[in-house]
Amino acid sequence: MRLDKYICRCTELSRTEAKKYLKRGAVLVNGETIKDPGFQVYEESVITLAGNLLTFASARYIMLYKPQDCICSNVDELYPSVLHLVDVDRAFDLHIAGRLDVDTTGLVLITDDGQWSHKITAPKKECNKRYRVQLSKPIPADAVERFAHGLQLQNEAKLTKPARLEVLAEKEALLTISEGKYHQVKRMFAAIGNRVIGLHREQIGAIALDGELAIGQWRYLTEDEVSSV
Ligand code: URA
Repeated sequence: MRLDKYICRCTELSRTEAKKYLKRGAVLVNGETIKDPGFQVYEESVITLAGNLLTFASARYIMLYKPQDCICSNVDELYPSVLHLVDVDRAFDLHIAGRLDVDTTGLVLITDDGQWSHKITAPKKECNKRYRVQLSKPIPADAVERFAHGLQLQNEAKLTKPARLEVLAEKEALLTISEGKYHQVKRMFAAIGNRVIGLHREQIGAIALDGELAIGQWRYLTEDEVSSV
């Protein structure tokens, strides 16, 4: 990691402030004064700032109950980013492990550990996600089988991977998928001639949305939840 970034991660300093300390010669790496903000540092590097040893803040793992009308992006666009709901220091250094559409609610995992989020989002890892789906029309009798077999989505070369559909009511189901294609759930139901009118993510892998969280609230994951991924 770059030295200036490392300093920011360990302190409350902004990148500009970190650079000022560097310029002043206040930063030592393994006992040597380093002024170059881009200097590469490693896990084993011993770094001091004005004589104080810097320790790397440990990674953060968060679950958020996403409301509608906010987006799973690090930048605000038409709607604000979900990261505004996470009132921690340097919230925008975090990233979202598996996005939801603006109108989808439910479980969002947020972290600054890229290797961990990769295990959730990488297609090869086939991490299960469970959604509660409300539909505009009744679910046909053969839907369970069709989802299990795989569906042909528009503009996709391959069928979707086998998915588990549990019909809860005439127009409500739980759907578990191991992929994360763009608008996947909506496109899967469109492929059988139906339309998703409500979508809520309940679970990612073994991590379920905490029933104690109100919409818009977040909490840190437990150690067991983190290591379940
Ligand atoms: N599939 C969708 O269509 N939308 C989401 O937000 C998540 C999965």
